[in-house]
Amino acid sequence: MGFEGVNIAGRRFLVTGGAGFIGSNVCEGILRLGGFVRVLDDLSTGKRGNVELFSGRSDYEFILGDVKDIEVCKKACEGMDFVLHQAAWGSVPRSLEMPVFYCANNILGMVNMLEAARRSGIKRFVYASSSSVYGDEPTLPKAEGREGNLLSPYALTKRAAEEWAKQYTRHYGLPTYGLRYFNVFGPRQDPNGAYAAVIPKFIKQLMAGERPTINGDGRQSRDFTYIDNVVEANLKACLAPESAAGEAYNIAYGGREYLIDIYHCICAALGTDIEPLYGPDRAGDIKHSNADISKAREKLGYSPEWDFERGINKAIGWYKENL
Ligand SMILES: NC(=O)c1ccc[n+]([C@@H]2O[C@H](COP(=O)([O-])OP(=O)(O)OC[C@H]3O[C@@H](n4cnc5c(N)ncnc54)[C@H](O)[C@@H]3O)[C@@H](O)[C@H]2O)c1
Repeated sequence: MGFEGVNIAGRRFLVTGGAGFIGSNVCEGILRLGGFVRVLDDLSTGKRGNVELFSGRSDYEFILGDVKDIEVCKKACEGMDFVLHQAAWGSVPRSLEMPVFYCANNILGMVNMLEAARRSGIKRFVYASSSSVYGDEPTLPKAEGREGNLLSPYALTKRAAEEWAKQYTRHYGLPTYGLRYFNVFGPRQDPNGAYAAVIPKFIKQLMAGERPTINGDGRQSRDFTYIDNVVEANLKACLAPESAAGEAYNIAYGGREYLIDIYHCICAALGTDIEPLYGPDRAGDIKHSNADISKAREKLGYSPEWDFERGINKAIGWYKENL
């Protein structure tokens, strides 16, 4: 269960986007289990502060660079066993404002990393996809193989990443594993800015005594996934059989939380009863999303042990100490 028992001691990992929320937690997990970490990050949305706790260690390196530059990607892959490609820009609304940048950053960045990985003989290429690839498909829970029409440029970049990865597995024998994350939350997720995710944003605003705005009626639901489950998925995918390559997997807890309930849960944990404001629905958003995680359980041995309640309490504890 979880990732604590995963045997990766002495293995060498390149984590792109390692200075971001998910990447820095993945780095922490690898280092805790005795692996070597090299981060490649351009610090565009990530922060040096997220990786400060590793600096000075002999089993950790940081490269400041852009995955849009293939020479940087090739250099970063040298001597590595595994690539965990997290570098990309998130946020559906931001992608609607700057589609050309998303195409360059998320798609070219992905293809550059695939190319660099295959030339370096990387053993496993694991990459961040997203639940957004399900688009407008209404069937719940969401299952791999049943995707609808895409609803944003961001979702398109993730669908494209999956298709490119398949080509690299098919034609060049690079074992690729796509991880479709569902609304990840936990320590170090950025609560600031117009495109912040809802959980850290609510926690920060409520801690400051402000009134958060809920987009829509609050009855939308998501499979909110605690970060340690995502770390587990990344590490288990590195040890998955080659027969599981060339595919994408739902990575979630498999639960269903309503936004308004989450809001009240955070209020209760913080001891406040501030009422929310309500705003319009966001473009590109769907009403409900939760995951069938049986494929990842079966093929990757993924066995998430952090349910929403345990995760949110851990996350709130972290924000209380660090904000
Ligand atoms: N957070 C979620 O709920 C969620 C859900 C689905 C998918 N994802 C995906 O997971 C990955 C990590 O997301 P996150 O939430 O940690 O976001 P984040 O913004 O905290 O981290 C992304 C990191 O990638 C870096 N980066 C971006 N473009 C880069 C480039 N061109 N070159 C080098 N580095 C670059 C950023 O500086 C940042 O450190 C992304 O691919 C994202 O699309 C996240």
